[in-house]
Amino acid sequence: MLDNLEQQPADALLALIKLHNADPRADKIDLGVGVYRTGQGETPVFGAIKAAEKKLVETQDSKAYLGPEGDMGFVEALMPYVFGKDAPSMGGRIEGMQTPGGTGSLRLAFAMAKRAGIRCMWMGNPTWPNHPQICKDLGIEMKTFSHATPDGVADMDGIRGAIAEAEPGDAILLHGCCHNPTGIDYSSAQWDEIAPLLAEAKLLPIIDLAYQGLGHGMEEDAYGVRRVAVSVPELLVTQSCDKNFGLYRDRTGALYVMTAEPDQLPAVMSNAHALARANWSQPPDHGAAAVRLVLEDEKLTAQWLDELDQMRERMRQVRAKLGAAGKTGGVDLTPLGGQNGLFSIIPFTPEQVQAMREKHGIYFAGSGRINVAGLTAGNIDQFIEAVADVTG
Ligand code: LMR
Repeated sequence: MLDNLEQQPADALLALIKLHNADPRADKIDLGVGVYRTGQGETPVFGAIKAAEKKLVETQDSKAYLGPEGDMGFVEALMPYVFGKDAPSMGGRIEGMQTPGGTGSLRLAFAMAKRAGIRCMWMGNPTWPNHPQICKDLGIEMKTFSHATPDGVADMDGIRGAIAEAEPGDAILLHGCCHNPTGIDYSSAQWDEIAPLLAEAKLLPIIDLAYQGLGHGMEEDAYGVRRVAVSVPELLVTQSCDKNFGLYRDRTGALYVMTAEPDQLPAVMSNAHALARANWSQPPDHGAAAVRLVLEDEKLTAQWLDELDQMRERMRQVRAKLGAAGKTGGVDLTPLGGQNGLFSIIPFTPEQVQAMREKHGIYFAGSGRINVAGLTAGNIDQFIEAVADVTG
C-alpha cells in the first residue's frame, strides 16, 4: 500500500535552511525562513525566557497531562495582550486554548470553521504558503483576493471586492500584523473600514496574529484584532509565541474563540478540544509554561518587552537602510522602509532568485520574499550590491 504514495516536494521555505547550510561560501546570506537574527546573525534564547526556564526547572514538580486545552494559565496571561487589558474576554465571550505553535492554532481554527459549515475560505494573495496548504488538506474550498498593489500598499479594492462577493457564512483569513510574505499591513483607518464590512457581510473572520510585537509593538499590532472583535459577533484568533518570545521549535501558540453569546462558548470549545485530541491530543508544555512564568512576573515581563523592543528597533534600522537604497538596479527598495515585521517581497524573476543564490550565495524564498532580519551591518551592502547586479 505504501507504494501508492507519490513523492512530495520538500516544503519550499523549510528546504531553504538545508540549501543555505550546504553552501560552503563564508559570505553566504540566509534571508529564508522566518526567524529573527541579531546584528551578529544569531537567534539567541530571550533572556526573560532563560530566566523563566530556570524557574521552571526548579519549581515544576510534575509533567503529568494537562488536557487538550494545555496550560490555561498561559492562555489567560496572554489574552489581555491580544484583546486589551480592560475586557480581555469581552464579557465572557472569549475563551482560548494552547496549541502547538501558530500552525496548530490555524489547523484547529480552519477545522472548526469546516465543522461549523463554512462554504469557503477567502484569503489574500499572496499569503503564507502553509495557509492554503492546511485548507487543501482539510478539503476546504478557497477563494483569493489581491492583498497588495504593485506599488507596495494594501489593496483595499481587493478586500472590498472579496467581502462584497462573499456569501454569509464564508470565512475570511486576515493577517493581524506583519503580513507574511509582503510586510504590507492594513493601517488603523483601513481596519476601521474593514471591520464593519465583515460584520455586514456576516463573514467569520479568522485573524492570524503570528507576529504580534514585531511591527510597531504588542499594543499597536493588536489594533486590527481588537477593532474587528468589537464589530463582529464571532471571531477566531490564531496566536503564536514562536517569534515574539523566540520559542520557534518549542511550538508555543494559542487559539482564541469569540462567540456571539457567552453560553455558546462551552459547545464551541468542546469542538476545539475534540479536534485537538484527534490531532495531537495535548500541546507540548515547555514553551507555554515558560511564557506563563514570564507574564506572571512583572520584572520578567518588562525584560521580555525590552528584548522585543530591541528586535523591532534593529529591524527598523535594517528597513531604513533598505528603503534609503531606493532604486537599486531594476527594482525599487523604497517601500521596504515602511513595511512591517520580518518579511518583504522584492519583485525578482525566478531567474534572478536563482542568480542571487548561485552567483551571490543569498538565499530567500522563490516568491522573492526576504527575511530582513538576516541582514546586518556586515552584509547589507553586499546584499544591495547583489540586488543591483542581478536586476540591473
Ligand atoms: C516563515 O514563514 O518563514 C515562518 O512562518 C516559518 C514557517 O514555519 O514557515
